[in-house]
Amino acid sequence: NIALQNSVLNTFISELREVTVQKDSMRFRRNIERIGEILSYEMSKTFQYNNQTITTPLGASTIPLIDNDIVLCSILRAGVPLHNGLLNYFDTAENAFISAYRHHLKNPESFEIIVEYLACPDLEGKTLILADPMIATGQSLRATFEALQPFGTPKHIHLVAVIGAQEGIDFVSEHFPDDTHLWISAVDPALDDNGYIVPGLGDAGDLAFG
Ligand code: PRP
Repeated sequence: NIALQNSVLNTFISELREVTVQKDSMRFRRNIERIGEILSYEMSKTFQYNNQTITTPLGASTIPLIDNDIVLCSILRAGVPLHNGLLNYFDTAENAFISAYRHHLKNPESFEIIVEYLACPDLEGKTLILADPMIATGQSLRATFEALQPFGTPKHIHLVAVIGAQEGIDFVSEHFPDDTHLWISAVDPALDDNGYIVPGLGDAGDLAFG
């Protein structure tokens, strides 16, 4: 949880939360993208590396380079700017997109997650990075993980989020394999009766895309 460290990341989080600043949707998207870049860098330190020899104009240089086959999978639609941030750093990653939305049932406080669209490459033995800016109840991530099962078993799973409620994070940790890594930039204490993160930042999809 890099949210606990003092860094420039705090500037981006505060701008996402602040009601006047977050009205600037371009800045909102760009801040999510920048957080995706920072989390990519931190996450990359846990990957597997292989020494490669590079030819320079004056000789040769040996350097450890990432050896993982990476698949980035984002949940539409708020996941798009986070996906862009990850893709800015993992140039050769394969990409998957999935839609997940809350379908509210008769009781206004209860809902189910509907997955309608999914495009995904083979995941067998690969490093799956699943990105969604918000983990509220955690149900979207769980539904996404279930929908991805037919595509094979990843060797490593990383979850990337901007903000999460502790309750949703606990729910996610119960429904993903034990060795799943979570990279998240802010953890909030509460969920309200509608399943929104408190204090949170509002609805990331609406703030990013209207
Ligand atoms: C938001 C958010 C997550 C989900 C988190 O999406 O982007 O996908 O809710 O909630 P959960 O952890 O309780 O499942 P939303 O349904 O607002 O869709 P949008 O991104 O299209 O706006």
